[in-house]
This record gives sequence, structure tokens and C-alpha cells, in this order.
Amino acid sequence: MFRFLILGMALFSLRLFSFDPASISIFPSSALAAESAAQKIADLIVSNGGKKTVLGLATGSTMIPVYAALKKIVQEQAIDLSEVVTFNLDEYSDILPSHPQSFRSFMFSHLFDDLLYSSDNSLGIRQENIHIPSDATWTEYEGLIAKYGPIDLQLLGIGRNGHIGFAEPGTSIHSRTMVVNLADTSRRDNAHFWNGDLEMVPKKAVTMGIETILEAKEILLIAFGESKASAIAKTLRGSISEQVPATALQTHPNTSFILDEEAASLLKNGYTTRFINARLLLDHEIQEGELWVSKGKIIPPQSQGDLVVDIHGKILAPGFIDIQINGGFGCDFSRNPEKVDLVARELLQFGVTAFLPTVISSSPSQYRSILPKLRPRTFGTKGAAILGVHLEGPFFSSSYAGAHNPQFIVPSFNSAIETTYGDLQGVKLVTLAPEIPGGADLIKLLESRGILVAAGHSAATFDQIRSSTAMGIGLATHLFNAMSPYHHRNPGIVGAALIDPQLPYSLIVDGIHLCPETISLCWRCNPNGLILISDATEALGLPDGSYKLGTLEIELQGDQIYLSGSRTIAGSNLNLNKAVRLLHSIAKCSKVEALEAASLKPAKLIKVHPQKGTLAIGSDADFVVLSDELQVEATYVGGELAWNLNL
Ligand code: F6R
Repeated sequence: MFRFLILGMALFSLRLFSFDPASISIFPSSALAAESAAQKIADLIVSNGGKKTVLGLATGSTMIPVYAALKKIVQEQAIDLSEVVTFNLDEYSDILPSHPQSFRSFMFSHLFDDLLYSSDNSLGIRQENIHIPSDATWTEYEGLIAKYGPIDLQLLGIGRNGHIGFAEPGTSIHSRTMVVNLADTSRRDNAHFWNGDLEMVPKKAVTMGIETILEAKEILLIAFGESKASAIAKTLRGSISEQVPATALQTHPNTSFILDEEAASLLKNGYTTRFINARLLLDHEIQEGELWVSKGKIIPPQSQGDLVVDIHGKILAPGFIDIQINGGFGCDFSRNPEKVDLVARELLQFGVTAFLPTVISSSPSQYRSILPKLRPRTFGTKGAAILGVHLEGPFFSSSYAGAHNPQFIVPSFNSAIETTYGDLQGVKLVTLAPEIPGGADLIKLLESRGILVAAGHSAATFDQIRSSTAMGIGLATHLFNAMSPYHHRNPGIVGAALIDPQLPYSLIVDGIHLCPETISLCWRCNPNGLILISDATEALGLPDGSYKLGTLEIELQGDQIYLSGSRTIAGSNLNLNKAVRLLHSIAKCSKVEALEAASLKPAKLIKVHPQKGTLAIGSDADFVVLSDELQVEATYVGGELAWNLNL
């Protein structure tokens, strides 16, 4: 009975993994992970205060950004390397140490060349302290390590087959420095260093043994990319096996892991993740803190987290929601809506985690074919969620067709709504001109179906817009564009939106649709109402050239898009991330205000808040990681990495 109790207690106290390493730090991108690894190495050298520090070093693609970051830190902070001693893990056999593809050449070109001790650099690393094994010297390697060691910090990469150093699957846990045959996978994985010529990759190598590696006081394993995910999962969760040499690390008392999200991707399933070192946009301010996520939702902090993702001091804000976007990347939602998933995926790079595909004025038969293809749906980490459709038109004032085909504009409403659109299932927002004959009936009808109504492409007077907002119009679409201009005796929709803090209005802040002064004016008059939209066309993300908006030809020239052969602006080439940055710089609003104009405010407008648009507990874990310059560096959907700005 007592035995069962002990066993029960042991099981109860089991954490996520049977192996409980010193730490597993996951970063949104390999660039941030590499910086953090480099900082850890630099910190160790500095903390030794000029006394001897023995480093075990690795080569390979993983180490390239780590060494680049280390060089930068060492040079910027003038760190003294004169007492640093290094031992490399391994080296190819049967090639000269001076061979350009040798690990010795790798180490010098990626790290040592710029840090060597010289008459000009008394803080540099001394040649005689650099040790790299070779065919000629490997038999003395253990003796050398024993003389200077133990190794304070051993860096490790990992092979896809789970090798560490070149201790390949099958290597004994008791092995010491030796000559080995390289596994085929290892040779293939290294062929890119040899111009892709597998035949050139040596078949043998000299490597530290597993027991040698395990004698280091501290081990840091670094892995980037999806190709390492399986080896990492086995190393952390699998049982110790010679078939996966890295599992031997489970016997080491002080091993840490620095991974990017891709390398950690198989660890996260179903577990609680804690995002630390973040500057969170919460309660209308950016505050230091952490975010807990489980099963795609933000949860209250727990006493114990399973996995930790280090945001590295970056801003963490709710994902952007674009409520007006006509397409992008060669897909125009009014022409080829079946390609919407492609746009959904590409939008992740702009921090957009949800959107309303927007259909411009089309014919009744086109609506019937388009709308069923744009029904609300989610794509997990494969794309921004479709929250519904924005129907921009066709009930517009004929005077303000803008870039819509006049042939499809319907300047009055006098029949059943289905006659125009067919089924309204999934429609979230309709932009119309409220002053057209029958406009009031149309607004009431849409309202009664739970659809949000916006005023746009309209010549409405101030009084007309005021009475239609009383009826339920909840938004002015792309204020100033395609509507009667402000007149000092007839302020129209523009005047209504600028003086009524309760009237939200969308704005295309691309620096082309509106001049900076107009953007500033809007911000000063009604900051509360301003919502950013992209109004992007299929040309978004594509080079200059001819494209289409609905049925009309358009021309992209730089950032400007016109109806072909005219100076009529036809949608934009804007994305919401850029709009956030431009609003911040042009209107001189705070970062929080700029970010909320693309997240919290559109979410509230289309009534998906508090599920979206906030990082509050209970909300969807859709968020973006941003630099101080408000550049999106990573996008998460449901707490999982969906896009990152990688090396
Ligand atoms: C290199 C080494 C190897 C690599 C591993 C990962 O000194 O010992 O174990 O660390 O093969 O290589 P990359 O980083 O190129 O994927």
C-alpha cells in the first residue's frame, strides 16, 4: 500500500516531460533565439570576470547566426576574451584543416577571424587557446580537455537523426573522442556546405564522444527549424536510447535548450504555454508581463507552465483585423474568391489574424457565385480567419462610384434584398449610400438580419447621415474617399464623423488616399472613431503592373493604384501593419492607439470583441510580436506560431 502511495506521489509530481531540463526557451524566430544564445555565452564570460572560461563549440548552420550575434555583443560591449579557451566538438577526417569546408575554416570565418588577439586587440581570443580536433591530433584531445577543463559551457546543435557532435545513432553513451563513419543523413544534411555535391562530403569525422560531452558543467543545445522538431521531441520526451544520441542529455544535470518555434513545434501540442518577457498591450497600455495560453485561448496565470516562449522584450499585441480588403497576391475576392485561402495565408505576414473579404459592386449572378465561397471559416495557423463578408455596394450614389463599375451600381432600393445578393449567409458588413431612394428600408432590413451597415460611396447630407445613424448605420466607410467632400454649409458624412465621437469611420492610411494633414485632422477631431483598413486589391504583394479590381483594369505604379488610363484611385497597395506605422508617425498618436485602431476597434465594431481584438483572459490567443518600430516580426493564431520574420 505504502509503495503504491509513493508511486502515486511520484506520478503526480511528474511534470510535462520525464526529463526535466534546466530550461527550455522557445523564441518566436531563430534570429531572437540566436541572440539569446549568444547573450548566454557572453554573460558567462563576463560573469567569470576575466578568469578562464572554457567553451565547447559546435559548427553548422544553426551556429552561424549565434556566432554573428556573439561577435556583435563581444565587440559592442568590449568583452575580454583573452582568457577564453575553446574546444570544438568535431572535424571532418581526410581533409586538410586548411580546407575551405573544414570546421576549422568555418570557425575562423564565422567567429575567430574578427575576434583574434593582436597588438590592436588585447581583448581578443588567443590562437593557442583555440582547439579543434583533427586526424593528426585527436588522440591528444581528451588530454587537452582534461588539462584546461572541465568545459564550462558546451554548445550543441542536433542532427535530424538526433546526433550530437558527430556521435551518430548507435554510438555508446560511454564513448570518448574518436573517429567515426558519418551517417548518410548527416552527410546529406551537410552537403549544402559543399555546393550540394554529396560525393564531396567526407565519409569520416573526428568527434568528441558522448561521455566527453556529458562532462561539461553546462550544456546548451540550440536547434532551429521544423526539420529538427522530431529530434527535439525525442530528446526531451523519448526514453534514453543509443539510437537517438541526444537522449543521453537526459542524464546531465544542467542542460538547457534554446529553440525557435519551428524546432519546438512538436512539443507544444495540447500543453499550456507561457509567453514571457513580453511588453503586452493590455488595458490600453503597453506593460511588461506574460501571457498564458492553453487550447488556443488566453488563460489566467497558472502556478506551473509546461512550455515557455521568450518574447525577448518585444511588443505583444492583439492580431490585426482588416474589415475592408478586396484581395491580394493575385486574388480578387470579386473575381476568384476560391483563392481566398491564399490571401488568408499571406495576410499573416502583416499581422492580420482575421479579416472580412470585401466584394465590390457586382451583378446579382456574380454575388450568387462569389458569396458561398467566402463563408466564415478558420485556417488554424495556415491563415487569418474569415469572420464574414463585407459587401461594398452595389447600393451607391451614382455620383460616387469611385472604382466600382458603374454598370453594377444600383442607386435605389425597392425590391427584396435577395434579388441582388442571393443568400446573405455569412455577410457581416454592408456599405451603402443611405440617401438613395429606399435607403432607409434597406438599412432597417439589414439591421434586422444582424448585419452591420456602413455609409459610403455616398452624397448624404449631414442631416441624412445623422438620421441614418439614428436608424443604425454604425460606420462611415473610408472617410473622405468616394463621398461628398466637406462643405462649410453642408458638412456631409465627413462632418458627421469628425464631430461625433460615437460614429466610427474607417480610413485608408497609405499616404496616398489622404494627405497627412487630413489624417491628422481626423485623429484630432475623432480619435475614438478611427479604424484602419487596407482596402488592398489583388496587386498587394505583387510587382508593378496591370491588375483587376472586380471587372475593371487597374494599374499599380509604386504604391499607387489607379483605374487604367485615369487618375481615379482604385483601392490600395496597403497592408494593416504599414497602416499602423503610418498612423503612429503621421497622427503622432501613441503606439497603443495605432495598434488598437487595427485590432480592438475593428473587433468591437463587428462585435467579435472580447473573443478577438484583445489579450484579455478568455480571448482567442491571436497575437503579433512587434519591434519598437511597430514592424510585425511574428504572428500567432490560437497561441501557435503562424508566421515569423526569419533569417
Ligand atoms: C557540428 C556538429 C553537429 C551539428 C548538427 C546540426 O559541430 O557537431 O552535431 O551541430 O549536425 O547541424 P546544423 O546546425 O547545420 O543543422
